[in-house]
Amino acid sequence: MNKEWSKSSWRRLKVLQQPKWPDKIVCENVFDKLSNLPALVFAGETRSLVDLLAEVSEGKAFLLQAGECSEEFSRCHGPYIHDLLKVILQMAIIIAYAGGKKVVKVGRIAGQYAKPRSKDTETIDGRSIPSYRGDMVNSAEATSEARVPDPTRILDGYFRSAATLNLVRAFTRGGYAALNQIHSWRLECFPMRKYDELIKEIRKAINFTSALGLDLNIPQINEAVVYTSHEALLLEYEEALTRIDTTTGLWYDTSAHMLWLGDRTRQADGAHTEFLRGVRNPLGVKIGPKYEIDELKLLFEKLNSENTPGRVTLVTRFGHDKIEKFLPKLIREFKKEGFKVAWCCDPMHGNTYTNKNGLKTRVFEDILNEVRAFWSIHKAEGSIAGGVHLELTGESVTECTGGSSQILDMDLGKNYQSKCDPRLNAEQAVELAFELADIIKPCI
Ligand code: PEP
Ligand code: CO
Repeated sequence: MNKEWSKSSWRRLKVLQQPKWPDKIVCENVFDKLSNLPALVFAGETRSLVDLLAEVSEGKAFLLQAGECSEEFSRCHGPYIHDLLKVILQMAIIIAYAGGKKVVKVGRIAGQYAKPRSKDTETIDGRSIPSYRGDMVNSAEATSEARVPDPTRILDGYFRSAATLNLVRAFTRGGYAALNQIHSWRLECFPMRKYDELIKEIRKAINFTSALGLDLNIPQINEAVVYTSHEALLLEYEEALTRIDTTTGLWYDTSAHMLWLGDRTRQADGAHTEFLRGVRNPLGVKIGPKYEIDELKLLFEKLNSENTPGRVTLVTRFGHDKIEKFLPKLIREFKKEGFKVAWCCDPMHGNTYTNKNGLKTRVFEDILNEVRAFWSIHKAEGSIAGGVHLELTGESVTECTGGSSQILDMDLGKNYQSKCDPRLNAEQAVELAFELADIIKPCI
């Protein structure tokens, strides 16, 4: 590792996608406060996620990374968080049981409050106003005043992340995620016979295990672990939460277990890369069709000079119609270099389009097709498809079309809530989990 790294060494470089905070003093005050507030996650937990992602890279576990495109302050609310966790747990149990693989669960949760934008401004009702950059920066309300970046929102974001994480821990460790509660994760909103049948099967398996006299009083049956992740975009925030772990003497960003570099900020010589290369968290790297292979190699070497498995997960997001063109050569080049990575498919971000009414949407079948292509390309290249990265919600929104509930383009207005990208609703998410289980299940 380059000796010159410090948690602020990124400040020497040009930083993309940062808000222009209007008041420097208020801003410094906020980051001072944040530097003294407690860590959100512990280094020991973060290290265990690196080990699990190493298993993903070896094909021994499946990565399910999922949650909101952009968390909203107004949705930092018990029932929303419960419903999102329920759908993640349902998907995980489907993939584990029907697909036969251990599932590593990572939420886009408890800190996914800042968004990169393609343009600094957007036009709403004929007026050009600054873009919404996530609730940690400005408000989504469509006025120029509401869009002025407000650094005090960062503190709000920290406290909401803490509250969310508290609920995640209580929900997953306090008995609710126990396998004998599996029926209660089922969301009321959809009639999913297939899921009910799966519950019966799992119940039978549990009864059988118990009848054999095996002790079921173990955490694997009674608890779940859901790790947190977000895009490491606001580097001042990430720096303020970066601390030395007293056990190892190494630096960890304690804002989340896993952090990722977005497709717009993953330049090998960029500030975001400079920051992330020095923290020991597991890192995601989003890769879209504009990648340059030499730059990606350089990036990998900077982030993972020791080639540690589990340190870097490549999250590809090409689109169902481009994946054939862009994924095979990427796999071949990484293989040739001997780089150890976990491969993850984000079938959301390359499949977004705006419909004639101006709503951003995605087609369920496009999402599924990218996932299928991802698995078959990895198989053909003799490499390992590790998991998926999804945007979804526990609610019955109408933001993506298709799926067996057959949401049509004209239905999108019925319950479209996202202020950013369109998410799968609970029913579409569970349907995708069954498809994933089919794709990965071992031939018996
Ligand atoms: C996202 O994950 O919400 C996102 C903006 O992704 P990408 O960087 O891949 O465009
Ligand atoms: Co998104």
